Amino acid sequence: MCGIVGYIGRREASPIIVDGLKKLEYRGYDSFGVAIIGSSLTVSKHQGRIAENANSAGSLQGKLGIGHTRWATHGIPNEINSHPHTDCSGEIALVHNGIIENYAELKRALLAQGHTFRSDTDTEVIVHLIEDRYKETQDLLSAVQATLPSLKGSYAILVIRNGEDRLIAARCASPLVLGVGDGEYFAASDMTPLIEHTERAVFLEDGDIASVSRTSVAIFHGNEPVNRPIELVDLRLEDVKKGGFAHYMLKEIYEQPQAFYNTIQAVRDLSLSPEITCISPITLVACGSSFNAGLIFKYLLEEAGNIPARIEFGSEFKYFPPPVGGTVIGITQSGETADTISALLQAKAQNCCTIAITNVLGSSVSRVADRTIFMRAGPEISVAATKSFVTQLAVLMQMVNRLSENTYDEILAHGHHVIEELLLMDFSDAVDLCMTAQSIFYVGRGAFYPVSLEGALKMKEIAYIHAEGYAAGELKHGPFALLSPKTPVIAICMPGKTYGVMISNIKEMKARGAPVIALGSAGDKELIDIVDLYLPLPGNNVFVQVLASLVALQLIAYYTAVALGKDVDKPRNLAKSVTVE
Ligand code: G6P
Repeated sequence: MCGIVGYIGRREASPIIVDGLKKLEYRGYDSFGVAIIGSSLTVSKHQGRIAENANSAGSLQGKLGIGHTRWATHGIPNEINSHPHTDCSGEIALVHNGIIENYAELKRALLAQGHTFRSDTDTEVIVHLIEDRYKETQDLLSAVQATLPSLKGSYAILVIRNGEDRLIAARCASPLVLGVGDGEYFAASDMTPLIEHTERAVFLEDGDIASVSRTSVAIFHGNEPVNRPIELVDLRLEDVKKGGFAHYMLKEIYEQPQAFYNTIQAVRDLSLSPEITCISPITLVACGSSFNAGLIFKYLLEEAGNIPARIEFGSEFKYFPPPVGGTVIGITQSGETADTISALLQAKAQNCCTIAITNVLGSSVSRVADRTIFMRAGPEISVAATKSFVTQLAVLMQMVNRLSENTYDEILAHGHHVIEELLLMDFSDAVDLCMTAQSIFYVGRGAFYPVSLEGALKMKEIAYIHAEGYAAGELKHGPFALLSPKTPVIAICMPGKTYGVMISNIKEMKARGAPVIALGSAGDKELIDIVDLYLPLPGNNVFVQVLASLVALQLIAYYTAVALGKDVDKPRNLAKSVTVE
């Protein structure tokens, strides 16, 4: 949700910043801008993708600068609303990720004092406030320190001023990391743009302000100097490159066997007591795909372990907190989703024990939760969650395994092989049926119902085809009215206690003219006879079948989006990390 990059050093800043912003485009990509200090402060801002205007932004001269790639919140995506924003004099420039909740009242006061605003953003108030404080202090660091207490909301900001050879960075509830080079420093929303320059990083904490020069960095918590350690970040350049794949999404789908294996290894000895015991209720909070992973967990846990679990949307939990006790688990691949973090804070206020499951070391959620379990997906660049989803499942399945006395050890140890098998399958017939569809229904029962939700979400996000996931038995309560030859149904129909009713449901759908694509178990003759397209999946256990059907639906969505010529990695209007409520 907006990406920021800053640089100070011996090299030209703008190409480094523009290149860094491209790597952060997954956080937002409706407009971007760069401000550089050379002989003066120059700003270059553009609507649209970075690749379209990289040359003009990347050719500004100077060795100190800041940049921003935007996911609009306040003000439409256009050149004026894009960052950096400057003060009235044009001497101070600022980029911001987050939301200033009290910007309206601050703006009214600043307007009354005679400040001129150019944009509709909440961000612009910050740079005008700094301008005022600078007049009093004549020092950029002091001006920023004096400004931040007036702000309510979340921010990661970078600030520069013409004539000052330093970069000021500050964060509160939005991520910010400093990269430590040799005679140069970097700042960014995460390590992705920094890894090709340095593996040494300082993760700022909420309330930190850093004054960064070419040769040193001084960090303050409010006004007090603090030491933050330099950490070595274990990321490889290949992790953030496409590596010969047409899209990051495809690369990340192909990385799933390894990611699942790595995560299972990492949580092999996961201990769940004392947080979770069979007698304490478990509540999960999550958003988007992470919610779907949580819902799969609920079904698996209740079926395998006979332990009740409930799941709530993070966005609902904060404002309508249900009565909770025991353990609350927040699932968030980015570790930055504002709604999930708020929900965990709310749960803490209700004296619950909180656990976070996330993919990002040092992310905000890990500072909020009592305990954090890390997935080992590696960086995920494509906006649509794939390997992060599968590794969330790895952690959650291992939890179910632990809570049901390690019954699934063997299955989980071989889960990656199932995903490998799926990667060899051909989905072109399914893609042919989907790409001309007006709408697609995805149906399943039990744990396959949330798999349907996730399959439909993938199709919506990247192929822009209206798709809905449904519990199979519910389709007759309304959606049947929409079934037609242009409305295929993707049905996940596995052997087990719901097999018979699924077969009946599929016949009902067929009778209403909908083509049915079935994901079933290998050699299921009954299913083959009644559906239009049958895709046999490996596995005879629900854990394995969940993984297999999920990967099949990811690939169907991916190839459909490619066939329709969509921008798979950066779908319109979306962002990967959603740090606003
Ligand atoms: C965004 C992403 C989704 C993701 C959701 C929750 O909407 O596009 O892919 O599932 O946020 O993100 P989280 O980081 O909390 O898992």
